[in-house]
Amino acid sequence: MKLWGGRFRQQENQMMEDFNSSFPFDYRLYEQDITGSLAHVMMLGRQKIIEQSEAEAIIAGLTGILEDIATGKLVLSGKASDAEDIHTFVEVELIRRIGDVGKKLHTGRSRNDQVALDMRMYARDQAEVLVDKVQMLIDALEKKGEEYSCLMPGYTHLQRAQVVTFSYHMGAYQSMLRRDKKRIQNALELMNESPLGCAALAGTTHNIDRNQTAQALSFAKPVDNFLDGVSDRDYLLELLSAMSIIMVHLSRLCEELILWSSQEFRFVDIDDAYATGSSIMPQKKNPDACELVRGKSGRVFGHLMGLLTVMKGLPLAYNKDMQEDKQGFFDALDTTMACLDIMQGVISTLRVREDVMEKSVREGFLNATEVADYLVSKGVPFRDAHGIVGRIVIACEDQECAIEDLSLDQLRTFHSAFDESIYDYLDYRQILQKGNKKEIIGEKHA
Ligand code: ARG
Repeated sequence: MKLWGGRFRQQENQMMEDFNSSFPFDYRLYEQDITGSLAHVMMLGRQKIIEQSEAEAIIAGLTGILEDIATGKLVLSGKASDAEDIHTFVEVELIRRIGDVGKKLHTGRSRNDQVALDMRMYARDQAEVLVDKVQMLIDALEKKGEEYSCLMPGYTHLQRAQVVTFSYHMGAYQSMLRRDKKRIQNALELMNESPLGCAALAGTTHNIDRNQTAQALSFAKPVDNFLDGVSDRDYLLELLSAMSIIMVHLSRLCEELILWSSQEFRFVDIDDAYATGSSIMPQKKNPDACELVRGKSGRVFGHLMGLLTVMKGLPLAYNKDMQEDKQGFFDALDTTMACLDIMQGVISTLRVREDVMEKSVREGFLNATEVADYLVSKGVPFRDAHGIVGRIVIACEDQECAIEDLSLDQLRTFHSAFDESIYDYLDYRQILQKGNKKEIIGEKHA
């Protein structure tokens, strides 16, 4: 059934009807749609735009529909042929249940402000779930860091650089994810204005009260401008952008776990529960969970670019193009949430080979910078110190040893400033007691 058949002389083309329908994907907005309608109809009653008894009949009807969907008594088929969209579906069902009085629900409202409201409420609800999932991953990373206190090589250019700890490395991801949480919370604050009451684009002649509905639906206030209210999808772009950045972070974490679980690194063991085998090579254990998360990042970035492109040339106010905001956003949400859940599992079950990590710290001159710092503390200019340690590294490479294997006499052949105290700068744990490196082992730097 159509809500707008009046001015049409001919039937809609069947292919067009399917093409136009958003019901196959927007039926997931049913709860927000009915909640929004309830707030609207209560306001209509209070403002005496419809009779109180009429409002009550509609409220009872809508509440019944909501319950029946929740219990599965009323099935949302998701078939395009069943409805043009979720808004139509609910309204038609309401009229079928309570009769003509149901036709008064849409007084002083348009599907334009209705869909704008539904999407905002849905995005707001889901953003809160997203924040919780990000926090759960932060907690898992923190716990894993506490479980393993080993030293670990820090890298630049994927070359061993300086010593850090595994906990500190996990801490870097916690910092990223804390920013991600903040980004979503900032978006939530900005988007928390109600578009209900903007009607199609220009408000309504009815004496509606936008403050009442905004308050009932826990918005900070109604939007300032009707045209903007029905055509703003900034909040979806912001959330897509926040999700894209989350996916960048997860993808980088996954890339590291894939490398670390390789035979070349052997730093970590990904639990069997989050790995898969090969159909031909019996020995294989592949880090599929991490590879999938790394791969799915592309989907989420694509949805951000997709919606930016949908929005960029649209004249005010509502245009049907905007129906295209949904599938990408929903898929980005589903994908990002699934990735956060999976990563929480991967991290909580991860085993770290502390011995391999510590051994790697001892190979690759990860204390060379500190030897240069030592010479500087003895008055040698840093550039000269850098050159001297470079020559020490060449000598060690030739002798296939580490700097700490050299005797004091050998070190003194490179510079007379070396004395016993150099060994404090060569020991990898003691290095982390110096200067602001104390922060790496969780101690405050004065
Ligand atoms: N299904 C539409 C959407 O998702 C609802 C709004 C329809 N408004 C309209 N004027 N046709 O955007």
